[in-house]
Amino acid sequence: MKILVVGSGGREHAIAWRLAQDAEEHEIYCAPGNAGTLDVATNVAIKADDLEGLAAWAEAEKPDLVVVGPEAPLVAGLVDALAKVGVPAFGPVAAGARLEGSKRFAKEIMDAAGVPTGKAEVFTDAAKAKAALPDYGLPVVIKADGLAAGKGVIVAETTADAEAAIDDMLVGNKFGAAGAEVLIEEFLHGEECSILAMVDGENAVLLPSSQDHKRVFDGDKGPNTGGMGAYSPAPVVTSDKLPLIKEKIILPVVRELKKRGIVYRGILYAGLMVNDENANPHGPLAKSGSTVNVVEFNARFGDPETEAVLPRLGGSFATALLHAATGCLKNEDIVVKPETAATVIVASGGYPGSYEKGMSISGLESSVASPSTIVFHCGTAVAEDGGVWTSGGRVLSVTGIGANLREAVDRAYGQVEKISFEKMFYRKDIAHRAFERG
Ligand code: AMP
Ligand code: GLY
Repeated sequence: MKILVVGSGGREHAIAWRLAQDAEEHEIYCAPGNAGTLDVATNVAIKADDLEGLAAWAEAEKPDLVVVGPEAPLVAGLVDALAKVGVPAFGPVAAGARLEGSKRFAKEIMDAAGVPTGKAEVFTDAAKAKAALPDYGLPVVIKADGLAAGKGVIVAETTADAEAAIDDMLVGNKFGAAGAEVLIEEFLHGEECSILAMVDGENAVLLPSSQDHKRVFDGDKGPNTGGMGAYSPAPVVTSDKLPLIKEKIILPVVRELKKRGIVYRGILYAGLMVNDENANPHGPLAKSGSTVNVVEFNARFGDPETEAVLPRLGGSFATALLHAATGCLKNEDIVVKPETAATVIVASGGYPGSYEKGMSISGLESSVASPSTIVFHCGTAVAEDGGVWTSGGRVLSVTGIGANLREAVDRAYGQVEKISFEKMFYRKDIAHRAFERG
């Protein structure tokens, strides 16, 4: 198959890499890609947000499939634009991507579909929002409605912090139009996990579960990031929960969208809060009464979850993606390997705040030699001298694969220790929650 992967991060490197593992040979392109995707694909110099450029390339090159990585082009309508030029794409149309692009819309769909999630209300007026705070107790969650580069969610421990977040969004315009509507949401207790469901408009197949590490420092300290590591499977998602997640969360959402004329194809990523005795013996259940509640939906593969989940998939990945994109996904399209995977993000000093770019990276050569570790590139570029430089906050995503979690984690860190660049850092406690469970 001739396939274009849109995006330039670790997620897109993992998608292109996994396509290259298929038994059948593919012609893989990445737009714009990074220094790592060059190993498995041909980079095309078109940015992920250049919808016209991507549609023109697709019209001229006629790929069999376009796989869209990031949310912004999905929300902006890339899949709709590709449909107009007759090219199948893996990813929802803009109307479906609103599940991620508007938290208010996501709540509306969940309410209509009876999906368990925290209680929430939408406000455009700061005084009214503040007046509602006592109904929610503390902590309370304040969310900007729209896309805010992962910064639009504030978990406020005090009323003063909650009021400040409301003022920032509704009065100070901190997130522009994305924060013109604000949700106040009930705080959900428990342990988070990520479920990526592959959806073909009607049917869904769950990919292996995973857990992300959102905070920047060990022990879940410091500000939220795009994700500092992941592992798969996540033991908090016990097998008895999988049918519940599919039947009570994923499929009702897909059906509700269809009822509204929206055929959702691609990944439906459910960020879930699991609260059962094993996960959190001290936390009260969410008000909805369910042990699994939706925290958020994303309209795409997670990053770094993808770097831990895709190495666990067998079979033909291209076929699964094409079947989902064209409405004929089958359970057999997803083959899960028994191995465990753990991913450690190697980041630039200062991330998620400001950081320097252009640091020379050493130690990447050895990554190719080992079948049990893979070094995915997130923010890298090829320098003039042919070396690889840092070009982002999250620089590399190092995945270890093993017979069990300990082996996977040790292999990932063993590889990370061979890599160096100025001011690099990484979390040293990836998968700690799984280990704490014993
Ligand atoms: P979101 O962008 O909606 O995923 O929110 C970012 C992070 O904020 C989530 O991964 C959670 O850690 C936290 N969060 C969001 N909503 C809630 C909630 N209702 N209860 C507890 N934590 C939440
Ligand atoms: N790792 C979180 C996300 O992809 O949104």
